[in-house]
Amino acid sequence: MLAERRHARPNDEYVRQLPDLIVSGETQCRQSRPNDDARHYTKIIFIDKRPTQKYGLAGFGATGVWMNLGLRGKVAIVTGGARGIGRSICELFAEEGVRVAVADIDGDGAGATASTIRQTGGEALGVRCDVTDGASVQALTATVEAAFGTIHILVNNAGFTRDMRIGRMTEADWDSVVDVILKGAFNCTKAVLPAMMEQSAGRIINISSRAHLGNPGQANYSAAKAGLIGFTKAMSLEVGRNFITVNAVAPGVVETEAVRALPHFEKISANVEKTVAIPRMGNVSDVADAVAFLASERASYITGEVLHVTGGRY
Ligand SMILES: NC(=O)c1ccc[n+]([C@@H]2O[C@H](COP(=O)([O-])OP(=O)(O)OC[C@H]3O[C@@H](n4cnc5c(N)ncnc54)[C@H](O)[C@@H]3O)[C@@H](O)[C@H]2O)c1
Repeated sequence: MLAERRHARPNDEYVRQLPDLIVSGETQCRQSRPNDDARHYTKIIFIDKRPTQKYGLAGFGATGVWMNLGLRGKVAIVTGGARGIGRSICELFAEEGVRVAVADIDGDGAGATASTIRQTGGEALGVRCDVTDGASVQALTATVEAAFGTIHILVNNAGFTRDMRIGRMTEADWDSVVDVILKGAFNCTKAVLPAMMEQSAGRIINISSRAHLGNPGQANYSAAKAGLIGFTKAMSLEVGRNFITVNAVAPGVVETEAVRALPHFEKISANVEKTVAIPRMGNVSDVADAVAFLASERASYITGEVLHVTGGRY
């Protein structure tokens, strides 16, 4: 995924070197909204369908619009970053120049994600952390601040399902799912806010789910993901005056290891064709792209929102 993106997008250095206006055949690259601060320039590039060898974009197969997200140099914590959606968010952040703390209860997995990012030129730190444990989360933020100086972005992504009809759902099934999703978001948000408040800026993105609308067999998960939206809206009102935004992303079915391991995966896969407007499962990068936008300078006046990434399924 990372390699695919690398080839699909021009890098910052390339964009910096572009003159204000280039017209080459049907390909137009133009600079818009130049900013005094060189780090926050904006260039919007319209790329023709035909590959252009002159500007090194050969192989880019579709008309595209690319904008600088202004994320370079920011520091992010992504919980549940060892694999799946969280890992994709970490990789995209790193690609955008974010220094990433990969936090996961699976310490080896967190280390592996961070190591892959470092091997591809990014800055990352793997930290073992259980988001349901306040002390573990405090240790995480202390480690990140010691390594990177501050925290600008938090993605509350850690979560899992324990699906069961209510009659067979145990108290442990309920508690574990609600704890990781809700208490996890509470612990992590509380821990990063002092740094964000001090700098009067910050982005918190909570990974909810389309399941917040209710799914049979997912009473615990649906309740927790709906609760996470309530938490998002309450927090957005509490911290907005500090210019900190808090938003939720609600993915539909995204093909990850966890989803592929479900006993009814084949059924889910078959249903997608019938129930989703864009008839495919989501990719981890679909969610990562939405998160990167909400984390960016481009989303500074969006808060308390829920961005559905479902391919058009409600
Ligand atoms: N995959 C989907 O279809 C889908 C759809 C909607 C929402 N989501 C949500 O997206 C998020 C990521 O899902 P995924 O499919 O990538 O899952 P995943 O199981 O692949 O990854 C979840 C990660 O969270 C970590 N984790 C679990 N408990 C933790 C804890 N207590 N502390 C720290 N880390 C912990 C796991 O070790 C794992 O690495 C979850 O919140 C999930 O509910 C997923």
